[in-house]
Amino acid sequence: VSDIPGDFDHVLYTEEQVASRIREVASQIDADYAGREILMVGVLNGAVMTMADLCRAMTSHMSMDWMAVSSYGAGTKSSGVVRILKDLTKDIDGRDILIVEDIIDTGLTLSYLVQNLRSRNPNSIEIMAMFRKPEAVTCPLDVKYVGFDIPNEFVVGYGLDYADRYRNLTDVATLAPHVYQS
Ligand code: PRP
Ligand code: MN
Ligand code: MG
Repeated sequence: VSDIPGDFDHVLYTEEQVASRIREVASQIDADYAGREILMVGVLNGAVMTMADLCRAMTSHMSMDWMAVSSYGAGTKSSGVVRILKDLTKDIDGRDILIVEDIIDTGLTLSYLVQNLRSRNPNSIEIMAMFRKPEAVTCPLDVKYVGFDIPNEFVVGYGLDYADRYRNLTDVATLAPHVYQS
């Protein structure tokens, strides 16, 4: 952890561990989609880093589009309300969609998103999430690609934020208690 070091408690995954896992998942995706061109749909803002690294680790043709769907406000808990802040720019009829997310916590965001995208008649929809929290097991989501299953701690870095900060941290770390209290 090199940025604002005093704000962090402990590192869960280093930049190197994240990069190495991304490479593994990318080869799996390349193999699974051989001969098909994926439309990767990134969920803003959290998925920016995962998308950037995952697509560059792939060797197959792909294109990307973005949605902004927010279920969290400034706090650390899901509000339970999913809002579309920005929709896709193109039609996905007949396309093979891979939704790219940074994290699945309650699974609420992705449940909503999958249901929403399914109604637009794509050929297929799969999910890649870099991190997944334990609570996600209560959600009937079919997640094909997971980077890491993590404990139920509030983590930041690699796109994950606290009050919109810390997304640019290259490691994934927990915050020190004084950050929440200030
Ligand atoms: C976070 C995260 C996921 C979602 C996961 O996004 O990036 O998109 O919450 O939570 P869930 O599984 O409980 O729905 P957030 O709404 O904070 O927006 P952000 O990506 O801009 O940070
Ligand atoms: Mn998000
Ligand atoms: Mg967030």
